Amino acid sequence: MSIWDGRFSEKMNPDFEIFNRSFETDQRLVLEDIQGSLAYAKALQKIDILTMKELKNIVDGLNEIRTEITNQPALLKESVDEDIHSYVENSLVKKIGPTGLKLHTGRSRNEQVSVDTRLFVKKKINETKQRLKDLMSELIKSARVHEELVIPGYTHLRKAQPVLLSHYFLAYFEMFLRDYQRFDESFQRTDSSPLGSGALAGCSFPIDRKFLAEKLGFSEITHNSLDAVSDRDYILDFLFSASTTLVHLSRLAEDLIIFSTPEFGWIILSDKVTTGSSLLPQKKNPDALELIRGKSSRLIGNLSTLLILLKGTPLTYNKDLQDDKELLFNSSDTVLECLHISKIIIETMEIDSKAVKKALNDDSIFATDIADYLVRKGVPFRSAHKITGSIVLECEQKKIKLSELSLDRYKTYSLLFEDDIFKLFTLNNSINSHSVVGGTSHDRVKGELARAEKRLKHLIIQEFKK
Ligand code: ARG
Repeated sequence: MSIWDGRFSEKMNPDFEIFNRSFETDQRLVLEDIQGSLAYAKALQKIDILTMKELKNIVDGLNEIRTEITNQPALLKESVDEDIHSYVENSLVKKIGPTGLKLHTGRSRNEQVSVDTRLFVKKKINETKQRLKDLMSELIKSARVHEELVIPGYTHLRKAQPVLLSHYFLAYFEMFLRDYQRFDESFQRTDSSPLGSGALAGCSFPIDRKFLAEKLGFSEITHNSLDAVSDRDYILDFLFSASTTLVHLSRLAEDLIIFSTPEFGWIILSDKVTTGSSLLPQKKNPDALELIRGKSSRLIGNLSTLLILLKGTPLTYNKDLQDDKELLFNSSDTVLECLHISKIIIETMEIDSKAVKKALNDDSIFATDIADYLVRKGVPFRSAHKITGSIVLECEQKKIKLSELSLDRYKTYSLLFEDDIFKLFTLNNSINSHSVVGGTSHDRVKGELARAEKRLKHLIIQEFKK
């Protein structure tokens, strides 16, 4: 029997019944649904729809259902209900009898979906923020351990200029910190209670919406019932934040895959997060990183699916919206898992500083320093760039390093070159010349590292205070 049986004379087609059902997916919201129902029952009693005795019956019944399901999750498998909302209501009626039939007074499943998913999104945002903090902390640790190590920095996957490895790790720290803030901001927008919106027009009983919000831990209430039952932009916010995080994780994964190839060899991934090949005995494959890179695509897919799902639905509720939950669950599980695995990868990997040093043997990474040298002596940058380009070309043709070209040869390009040109070919000189805020000089990175530690600590304290 379904909850809307009265109006129908024919039975539902069994195939459509399965097609229509969302229980397999939305049973994950059982605790949120019970939480919403407990608050709603209390609000109904406040306006005398329920007596104190009826309220007690309902509250006891709901609490019992919660305990039973928590102790025996397999109970959910026995359900034949259409969705989690009908399940909770039907289970309550089975347990306490006709009083249970009063719980849905003035309430609609349309608002229940919104309540449950908002509670779920808020919980997942908090969990994701925690995982982001764990990852940020790991990045800071790695930056500390390798504070002084220099690596070649790349553009177009070609060596560009030397940078500190700690500067590299802190780049990802910045990205994940912004992800954290993005989740934080989307939390604010999710944190409004839609309960009391009814099916679409608002509750037809004078239900205390602020009381409901307070009971459910929402900071605010929504202000338009049509909007409250039909928009899912708080889920979009979550999916966007999660996609951005996964894009960052995917880029990090891609870097680490490259850096750990035998050709680079800068990074040695731990056996704990790599796999072997069934055929090739020598292989140690970066599967964990590849999975993260791969899974980023489904996050982006889930985001675009929901955007497309929403764009053509007229106000207010339409059943299309039922498909939002699969996307939400899939994205929230994936972002949490990928953050966790990324942390383990970073925590367990080793840096081979000898291999890094070997990569720095190629001193073309000092070409910009030569151009800057001329600029400091008054040459316009464009001309300095051209002169240096010609020097690089000569060295390339002669198969010698920039530091191996004689001063006499340098002077044929510009008389401004002096003996001190050879001082340019040291890593520290190059690194420390980038001393602007945000640059890779030792002092700046030291400062930023301390700042990152402070910012992370501040986030941890902020959470603790909540
Ligand atoms: N299972 C539905 C969903 O997830 C619940 C809302 C059903 N509302 C309705 N009017 N049929 O969207």
